[in-house]
Amino acid sequence: MQDAVSFIKDKIGSFSPEIGIILGSGLGSLADDYCEIAVPYSEIPGFKASTVAGHKGRLVFAEICGKKVVMMQGRFHFYEGHSMETVVYPVKVMKQLGVKTLIITNAAGGVNFDFKPADLMIITDHINFMGTNPLIGKNDDTLGVRFPDMSEVYSKELIAVADECAAKLGIELKKGVYMALTGPSYETPAEVRMARALGADAVGMSTVPEAITGHYCSMKILGISCICNQAAGVSTVGLTHSEVIAAADAAKNKFITLVLAILKSLN
Ligand code: HPA
Repeated sequence: MQDAVSFIKDKIGSFSPEIGIILGSGLGSLADDYCEIAVPYSEIPGFKASTVAGHKGRLVFAEICGKKVVMMQGRFHFYEGHSMETVVYPVKVMKQLGVKTLIITNAAGGVNFDFKPADLMIITDHINFMGTNPLIGKNDDTLGVRFPDMSEVYSKELIAVADECAAKLGIELKKGVYMALTGPSYETPAEVRMARALGADAVGMSTVPEAITGHYCSMKILGISCICNQAAGVSTVGLTHSEVIAAADAAKNKFITLVLAILKSLN
């Protein structure tokens, strides 16, 4: 960890990021548009290579709307075969770099019947259905406590900021509970019914490990899902990755406009 932090600090000099953004499918162009310093994951001690098409795999540092930001262009998914430790390692590195606010974005399937492709959903809470937890193992007391309180993982204050920005921009925001499953297979219709019965509004294969870890180490978290499809069984047609990417692309401008407005409004 210290090697990674020193390596990155060497590259970024006096640049000290306060806000971290994990860019989900389709949002990568934000990093391309604002890149000041880019550090490929392959060069950072402890970072693994990303195996998902469309995920670039680098940390991008930039000042955006007056805020010093570090973006993860590409994330590590549990379904790629990475350990939970690898999945959340970048969050811990961001913490060491001084990040206090973490915006986590993702592509998700809509479980709530009111959701349609290209909707944006603010995550109000989550259900960890991955069958594991990134905090399992010896606790590092310098980062956080052994048994973290989880009553407000997603900051109400940041949700209010997002609401206000969306209202000003005329962007409709859904709100809901995100359930994380491991993937990589999409859910069966029965699993989607289960998710709905358990209180989920959207399903996906990421975000929860990073949110748990960020919250554990005292970051303020904002989670935003791009609803890319109606989850299995909601829609009568089958689901493909290209459909998910196409919907993420359709929502991209709206999504980026919102994230920029949120960055501007954060103090
Ligand atoms: N299920 C799980 N993950 C997803 C989905 C889905 O329907 N769409 C995008 N990511």
